[in-house]
Amino acid sequence: MCGIVGYIGNNNSVDYLLNGLKSLEYRGYDSAGLALIENNRINLIKSVGKVQALEDKLSNLSTSSTIGIAHTRWATHGKPTDENSHPHLDCKKEIAIVHNGIIENYLTLKKELIEKGHIFKSETDTEVIVHLLEEELSNITNNYEENLIKSVNIINKKLKGSYALNIIWSKTPDIIIGTRIKAPLLIGAYDDCNFFASDISAFIKYTDQVIYLDDYDVAVLKKDSIKLYDANNNEKYFNKITVDKNVNEATKNGLEHFMLKEIREQPHTVMATIESILENIDNAFGINLMDIKSVKNVLLIGCGTAYHAALVAKYWIEEFAGVPTQAELASEYKYRKIAQTDETLAVFISQSGETADTVAALEKAKLSGFKTVAICNVYSSTISRIADYTFFTKCGPEISVASTKAFTAQLASLFALSILIGKANKSLDDKDVIKLIRELSLIPKSIENIINDEKSIEGIAKKYYTEKSYIFLGRNVNYPIALEAALKLKEITYFQAEGFAAGEIKHGPIAMIEENTPVFSIMGYDSVYDKMLNASQEVIARGANVIAITDKEGNQHMIADIVDRIVIDNTPQYLSPILNIVALQLFAYHVAKLNGREIDQPRNLAKSVTVE
Ligand code: F6R
Repeated sequence: MCGIVGYIGNNNSVDYLLNGLKSLEYRGYDSAGLALIENNRINLIKSVGKVQALEDKLSNLSTSSTIGIAHTRWATHGKPTDENSHPHLDCKKEIAIVHNGIIENYLTLKKELIEKGHIFKSETDTEVIVHLLEEELSNITNNYEENLIKSVNIINKKLKGSYALNIIWSKTPDIIIGTRIKAPLLIGAYDDCNFFASDISAFIKYTDQVIYLDDYDVAVLKKDSIKLYDANNNEKYFNKITVDKNVNEATKNGLEHFMLKEIREQPHTVMATIESILENIDNAFGINLMDIKSVKNVLLIGCGTAYHAALVAKYWIEEFAGVPTQAELASEYKYRKIAQTDETLAVFISQSGETADTVAALEKAKLSGFKTVAICNVYSSTISRIADYTFFTKCGPEISVASTKAFTAQLASLFALSILIGKANKSLDDKDVIKLIRELSLIPKSIENIINDEKSIEGIAKKYYTEKSYIFLGRNVNYPIALEAALKLKEITYFQAEGFAAGEIKHGPIAMIEENTPVFSIMGYDSVYDKMLNASQEVIARGANVIAITDKEGNQHMIADIVDRIVIDNTPQYLSPILNIVALQLFAYHVAKLNGREIDQPRNLAKSVTVE
């Protein structure tokens, strides 16, 4: 994970670097730091905690440095301490490095470097890079720039793992070097200054001219020039792309948290996503109906919340299109032998489009010759650039670390994709398609009704927020919603929360039930209503307090023992996940708020998980 930004230009670099770090803080917020070159020396300032802590520390700094690199960290190797914060320096304090990624062979390299006399100050994997570079540059007395490029290429061959680096050297005070291997790094080009960054948000305020680096590129930024070199030190041609500058400055609209704002945006984001699909439904996912018709298997891949969207869509595709479908965790997919299947459509779901496990799974699927489609929320993201085609959900920036509006937009997109596959292979006729689309189009209004009922959900949160353990039960399409609701609650409250397929509890989990354990039963009046009632009664018999997430019809048939009820609109069972999760997102939000948690940036997490 981690975010990196570099600036070189005519102005004081500190403001540019801090602004960049604030936009990249979603990638990690364990510590932040920057290194500047001033009077041919490196000036290093770092601080544990969020970028604000670094900014406070910098308030007394007087500098006119016009070149610097900066970093916001999500700790992988070593605790969040000052020593482990980036940038890292070599022994002579002449080279500074910031790094996003993981160096897998760092222990071997560290041992060799220590034997050569290098002194390490941190527990990080990153520090080996700067000492390796120091070693390469130790005998260089001239042609500093050229030798630095060559040395970066040499160390690129020694390092194993995935990484993006920014490097400054006091002997080359007018350049920043950047390189990347399987981690994002791009250049923002402007008239009299240039940027490196993990993503465009760090510099989009200043420039919309972007250069994407390929793996093993070594880029040299000066204030008024950009050069790229390949792994053999040959200068290479590059393309500048103009990106959409209209990226909203994300604000909370006067609300206390981004998460609440994003939950409340869902009637609009789901509607905007549906509208965007309906503009050209037959081609919304970039594959024409003839190609979709021949699809014999569907593979749905994602991580965390995106994986839960995949699990829901498995039910839809098998129901509407009768095509065998697997939902896979990206982190598992990469490291197992995959049976080669013909005519496989592989769908990659990712809000950020940068999740390293999903990128790796996508690369593997492409090697297998599968058709690949991505469902992403971020334009120009890595996944969207690798997949054969990308459908972009229309959520706008999702800032809260806990994903909400991206999930419901992913579900709406996957529902449409399921219909499309069913239409292409004639499992659905035109009438079916029209009916399903109409039902989907009604969903935003029902989401709005849930949001209007927020007070009653808050009331239930007030009743239970002191509990430390929660259980969520669902069946069929709502089993993944039980998993997602538990994930939401645990990530922002830090309490134990587990989701189960309701039919499974008697096979073990029921042992967890104690007097007053809150158990959420997702039970619309549908094909599994009676089964959900059975499961609810089984846990009530053992002392649980059951809270029903039900629809109006289900509410009328509810047993008196279930007092706490969140009642949503009647909707077909297959679409109910999109509604049920909104209610449960609100519950998680209010429990976290009542417990005084840092809702938008929960401990230990980062928005974009760019390390495997
Ligand atoms: C949970 C959450 C994560 C992400 C996961 C994948 O609220 O946000 O579980 O869903 O890290 O991220 P993306 O969708 O960016 O690939």
